[in-house]
Amino acid sequence: MSGVVLRPLTVLRYSGGKRWFIGHAKYLVEAAIERGAPRPARLLEPFAGGATVGLTLLNSDLVDRLILCELDPRVATFWKTVLTDSRFADRVERFRCTRKNVLDVCKHPDRDPAFWTLVKNRTSFGGNLTGGLMRNISSRWNGAKLATTFRQIFALSGRIKFVEGDALTLLRKYADDSNAAAFVDPPYVQAGKVLYRHWQLDHAALFDVLASWKGFWLLTYDHAPEIDTLVSKHQFAYRYLGMQANLHGRKKETMVWSRHLPHCVTEPVYLVPAKVRDRLLEQVRQWEIANPEKPRLAGRRIPENAWLGD
Ligand SMILES: C[S@@+](CC[C@H](N)C(=O)[O-])C[C@H]1O[C@@H](n2cnc3c(N)ncnc32)[C@H](O)[C@@H]1O
Repeated sequence: MSGVVLRPLTVLRYSGGKRWFIGHAKYLVEAAIERGAPRPARLLEPFAGGATVGLTLLNSDLVDRLILCELDPRVATFWKTVLTDSRFADRVERFRCTRKNVLDVCKHPDRDPAFWTLVKNRTSFGGNLTGGLMRNISSRWNGAKLATTFRQIFALSGRIKFVEGDALTLLRKYADDSNAAAFVDPPYVQAGKVLYRHWQLDHAALFDVLASWKGFWLLTYDHAPEIDTLVSKHQFAYRYLGMQANLHGRKKETMVWSRHLPHCVTEPVYLVPAKVRDRLLEQVRQWEIANPEKPRLAGRRIPENAWLGD
């Protein structure tokens, strides 16, 4: 297995986004192939959101094709445009991210819906499409870098299929295809209501579909008793992942995986290169110096897979 750290192919800021998960996904896909599973002819990301994991694995040639699915029409329109309109990147590059220009785009959601989604996402608090605009409006807008990434994604578009619709329907369609793998990242059980327009899901039905899936799959959830019950009912392999949600708090996520994948992931999974991790640790140290009265972080061990956000 290669220890190469993959550079995330990412354009949307997403609460619950799985940029931090890329290392795990890469490790498990490589491990499955080493154990004799076929290299996936297609990877499904049925709850696409920002689709960072799928796009990054495709870009790294770990899978042949990617099938994305999303129910939220604002996000769906975004992906349909990004994958079919070669000039989208040019519009991104030309846009000057001033408050006046952002307000003008926000006032006209129907003029260029995909561009509206991007601008709202990169200028609102937490990337929330219904959220207020950040004070430092251009802090997450790097037009040149975004345009380069959009061009990279467009170059891959011949290998990507986008479906606007329901994730369970798509998963059922490919259930008997042993050459299909899936990265499944449903809306959070606890916080989904606040974060997404579409957050209600029949979690038991999702587990039933995965139990009968022929190909291999990976599933991530926030930590919730309801999910623990479903995991143990189906006797799926799982692991809790502690991660640094932000400078102030850690959170626990559950990673569940199909029987094709190694039962126990023992190897360390480096989600960020060491030099990035060191930079993050330095940020923590600086924050502690500036906030001496707040609880200390650096005294506690920051795990190697800590991701403090982009
Ligand atoms: C946790 S987010 C996915 C984040 C994504 N993995 C990323 O890294 O950006 C879940 C996404 O699923 C979408 N969604 C919710 N219910 C859905 C459904 N039934 N079918 C397809 N997508 C759905 C939400 O709109 C949201 O974009």
